[in-house]
Amino acid sequence: MNASTEVVGTQLFDLRGRKAIVSGGAGELGLALVVALHACGAEVAILDASGETASTAGRIHDPHRPVHGLRADLADRTQAASVFDEAVRLMGGLDILVNSAGIQRRSPAMDFSEQDWDDVLAVNLSATFFLCQRAARVMVPQGRGKIINIASMTSFVGMKFISAYAASKAGVMQLTKALSNEWAADGVQVNAIAPGYFKTRMNAAYFEPANAELYRGITQRIPAARWGEPSDLQGALMFLASRASDYVSGVTLPVDGGFLGR
Ligand SMILES: NC(=O)c1ccc[n+]([C@@H]2O[C@H](COP(=O)([O-])OP(=O)(O)OC[C@H]3O[C@@H](n4cnc5c(N)ncnc54)[C@H](O)[C@@H]3O)[C@@H](O)[C@H]2O)c1
Repeated sequence: MNASTEVVGTQLFDLRGRKAIVSGGAGELGLALVVALHACGAEVAILDASGETASTAGRIHDPHRPVHGLRADLADRTQAASVFDEAVRLMGGLDILVNSAGIQRRSPAMDFSEQDWDDVLAVNLSATFFLCQRAARVMVPQGRGKIINIASMTSFVGMKFISAYAASKAGVMQLTKALSNEWAADGVQVNAIAPGYFKTRMNAAYFEPANAELYRGITQRIPAARWGEPSDLQGALMFLASRASDYVSGVTLPVDGGFLGR
């Protein structure tokens, strides 16, 4: 057996001793990502604006490795900086950053308000950049780190009535490449996951009876013939957060049941 075959199997995904921040970790997809990191051995801090941030973190019972829940509005740069620093201080370091905080506003483009545009870009794109920047200031000097941004199908295709969201998520994909170009040589891999259609409250509009036909049409267009469950993201995250992906940088990995291939 040579050195490269010795690390295959679960060791490749071992995150014991690693410290991770998950923005938006109190959300439906974010929590599944927190659970995956914790299950692989990482210490995790959730940064989220939700009033349920602390109780969500507390749902992962582990007296030896508690999940930290820190509440903050990440669109506010002062709050974002201070809660990020607090998380790094609490854990004693940082190896993994997952940017999952995100919002969506729906409206025809002609009526889209300035406030909605600014809010969506502030959370989905600007907060993602400034958290990446702060993470790199820890990771680049230590010569090691994993940044995983949460993109979307709208990073690739435009859709209708969510112009700010689509612009922000296309920006997340491009940002991921740009930061990878700067930091890959320093041992920091920057990648993204693009979830397809997931059964979450962000997509609640699709589940309304009035949209039943639309819902059926989307389901038929997904080669896997079903919408994603939050747990469907966990494997991709474990790959991108672990040394399994040490030579993967700048990619946006669709986890979409085959949607983009059709
Ligand atoms: N649900 C889907 O089908 C889907 C598909 C593609 C991409 N995504 C993306 O996945 C990510 C997670 O989505 P989700 O379905 O879990 O949504 P969610 O609404 O359940 O979770 C988003 C989390 O982000 C937090 N958040 C929002 N604004 C914030 C702010 N200013 N500061 C701090 N936290 C803030 C919310 O409190 C929430 O806990 C988002 O980036 C979303 O755009 C979701």
